Amino acid sequence: MIQFIYESDRELFENTISFAQTQVRRLIENHRDFYPMYTSGGRWRHEGPAWTHWCDGFLPGIMWIFHRHSSDRPEAKFWLDQAIRYSKPLESRKADTDVHDLGFIFLSTFFRWFQATREPALRDVVVHAGRTLSQRFNETGQYLRSFVAEDSIFIDIMMNVGIVFYAARETGDKKLRDIAVRHCVTTRRFLVRGDGSTAHEGIFDLATGEFLRQSTQQGYRGDSCWSRGLAWALYGFTVAYEYSRDPRFLQTAEACSDYYITHTPSDGVPPWDYNAPPENRSLVDTSAAAIAAAGLLRLCRHSADPMKGHFYWSTAIHILRTLSSKYLASADAAWEGVLKGGVYHVHKGLGIDESVMWGEYFFVEALEEALRVMQ
Ligand code: GLY
Repeated sequence: MIQFIYESDRELFENTISFAQTQVRRLIENHRDFYPMYTSGGRWRHEGPAWTHWCDGFLPGIMWIFHRHSSDRPEAKFWLDQAIRYSKPLESRKADTDVHDLGFIFLSTFFRWFQATREPALRDVVVHAGRTLSQRFNETGQYLRSFVAEDSIFIDIMMNVGIVFYAARETGDKKLRDIAVRHCVTTRRFLVRGDGSTAHEGIFDLATGEFLRQSTQQGYRGDSCWSRGLAWALYGFTVAYEYSRDPRFLQTAEACSDYYITHTPSDGVPPWDYNAPPENRSLVDTSAAAIAAAGLLRLCRHSADPMKGHFYWSTAIHILRTLSSKYLASADAAWEGVLKGGVYHVHKGLGIDESVMWGEYFFVEALEEALRVMQ
């Protein structure tokens, strides 16, 4: 695939990563050993509620990415030390059965740590977390249940099922792989619509396993398309395809991408929900854009049609250009985050038009990936 690379993009993305490093250093200095989730008025430390405990891997994950990005420079040691310091305390979460987010927490941290050092004990932590997540499997409905209730499946779980695939591959455990595949098939069948849009949540009859309805926690409505959920699906089905090589998952990842591309405004940043009501239709979610860019950079390697792959690559670069030029917090000296315009939970009034830690993580991941390909 030809990947058009412009010198101006390389410079823009390097400057953006450099600004992100400055902001993360500032965060470490101002709020040592604090794991933030979303800003309030641009400040990371505040009393706002978390709703659920899913974000602790993102800050150390950013440090692991900085470590790789600066591997030939003197600051590599600094980022390595910080990444280890912030990853280590998360190890006990490998046995956390309260959340469906162990992929978010461990693929960003111990998985990256293992990639950097190849120490088997680190891989064991990731495998343990994958096994723990697999315990959420509901046999009757064929899905990994969400943290809110036994009868609920979330589209976000597509970003976590990768750790079950990983555990299956590393151990050769076919039961684990089967759970991961069946969860993806169920998600594809009930949460991804014919036009490639997605529902946030699905509800099942626990007695029969019958699928009852699409629903939502963070989107506008059960029948709407919450843009971050769409981005989770785009990225998550790409990862599911990478592990399984099941063509159904590639097809779903492409359908979600095509919906994103055809329904998002021309700058590449979507509204928080594609069907949002007029009163908050202008509210965007830059974190959805960052996740989509990171997902498209993975998906572009797999499309059978090279023109499609090229288009996914170019779209990702276009999104990163917009985020780096229009939404970077660099002009606001008091703002502690990197990327403005993120949204956490509209209905609960949490993190609206703020920096959000997962947005920072996937933004930095996509920038680093694009720069590595551009070298
Ligand atoms: N709970 C995952 C999200 O807010 O996207």
